[in-house]
Amino acid sequence: MTVRTVLRMGDARLWEVSKPVENFATAQLRELLQDMRDTMHAMDGAGLAAPQIGVALRVVIFGVQAASTSSGQAAATGSGQTSARYPDADSVPETVLINPVITPINDQTEPGWEGCLSVPGLRGEVERHSHIRYQGYDENGALIDRVVSGFHARVVQHECDHLDGILYPMRIKDLTRFGYTAELFPGRDLPDE
Ligand code: NI
Repeated sequence: MTVRTVLRMGDARLWEVSKPVENFATAQLRELLQDMRDTMHAMDGAGLAAPQIGVALRVVIFGVQAASTSSGQAAATGSGQTSARYPDADSVPETVLINPVITPINDQTEPGWEGCLSVPGLRGEVERHSHIRYQGYDENGALIDRVVSGFHARVVQHECDHLDGILYPMRIKDLTRFGYTAELFPGRDLPDE
């Protein structure tokens, strides 16, 4: 178990374009993914991209349990994904996604609040595609191909942006919709990502 330091906005490594993974099912890839999972769960994140721990590879992980179904499961699995911290979220399956490709299904977009472990304590409203197809590979090189909507689609778009050196504040159109979580949502204990 290795919880790695998450780079914060301003660190130049977060602006880099990451490189594709070329070899699957390797010890190095397994170790990277274990560190990413440990780090994401320790920080109560919904997702994490490899460049956030200083590894410039096209690897993301994500997963959220919905508030209505997960309280017992979260306790049982000890995953650290406490649903109450994502009160408005639909569940998103725990996923490893490598060399992802995102294709919008149509032109529909929707605004939504986002946070990021690399931008702690802040939230911003970002417009994202409502419906996307995403494709990529798991750690063993098996194909992943899903069509998703809403919060799931948002999480994937946010995480994959990290692979191209994009942090969500760069996508905020109205900077009055950007601020400290505690001021924007007083009384709610919301996570950083
Ligand atoms: Ni992020």
